[in-house]
Amino acid sequence: MKKDTKMYETVSLMMAKGKGLLAADESNKTAGKRLEMVGLPNRAEHRQDFRELLFTAPGIEEYLSGVIMYDSSIKNSTDDGVPFPDVLMSKGILPGIKVDLGTKDLHGFRSEVVTQGLDDLDKRFAEYYELGARFAKWRAVITVDDELPTDECLLINSIMLARYAQLAQAAGIVPIVEPEVIFAGSHSIEEAERDTTRTLQTLFSTLIKFRVDLSALILKSSMVLAGDQHPNQSTPNQVANATLRTFHMSVPHEVGGIVFLSGGQSPKRATENLNAIAKLGEQPWPITYSYSRAIEEPFLAAWQGKEENMEVAQKMLLEVVKMNSLAQQGKYDPDADKVLK
Ligand code: G3H
Repeated sequence: MKKDTKMYETVSLMMAKGKGLLAADESNKTAGKRLEMVGLPNRAEHRQDFRELLFTAPGIEEYLSGVIMYDSSIKNSTDDGVPFPDVLMSKGILPGIKVDLGTKDLHGFRSEVVTQGLDDLDKRFAEYYELGARFAKWRAVITVDDELPTDECLLINSIMLARYAQLAQAAGIVPIVEPEVIFAGSHSIEEAERDTTRTLQTLFSTLIKFRVDLSALILKSSMVLAGDQHPNQSTPNQVANATLRTFHMSVPHEVGGIVFLSGGQSPKRATENLNAIAKLGEQPWPITYSYSRAIEEPFLAAWQGKEENMEVAQKMLLEVVKMNSLAQQGKYDPDADKVLK
């Protein structure tokens, strides 16, 4: 594959020290669930208000290097008619786009799914590039229990991720590959470590076979921790050690960076775990956050869908990304933090 040095610049901007990503890339249906939390019906104008408040929050550029959007939001604008990608670019924040179209059942395999969206993806990438997108995301869903994930589920999702990554790079767009190992469940941290390692080993051997340029690619990973139904919830120190062991066993050092999803952890827990990971010192890859719920939930709780709360909600957003910026550098003090819950 032809080397495109612009993608390396994109990677280094995305992974700048003290910064991370906001995953504001919910489908219209999932965005509706966020709006429900503040009592707003799932209408286009409310989804627009939600995103406009996030993207225009003063000062977020100090802590965010990129924002992942959804098809309808990358094509949307502020009330004053400024396209959302332009709002972000004017702050020096890179626009990104989620390009997968969600999951479908993997027939014959209990509770396993495969991600859709490869048809015409080359044409969609060309359009998204024109709209300003410089990176993209594709999410695969991996469930852990006594029998899952199967090797077949890991393989087919890795092949889809590899094809997506090839098409992204051919369009000059940095692919984020996200095999989300689901937090929901009663698995132990040891099982999470074993299955996340299997997932990432399958993914990276497939990416290499398909000649994807690993230096122009970012991994979006779950943290390694016991399932939310397990009686022993993992401590930050356990999470940090298990997560980094997993990466060292499976992620080639050429990979441009690693970002975390929050996966249903509380905002404070996601921040504390990131901090514990950073405290273990320099790694072969830059590591940061790419949260959706762990960033948006405190913002939504402050906003409550009310005009009079807009300013306070934007200040809350700034506070949350600031805490995560500190955590990215191992400088977050959970005892002193009275903001995150
Ligand atoms: O695909 C998942 C999102 O990019 C991250 O969402 O932080 O709520 O898990 P989350």
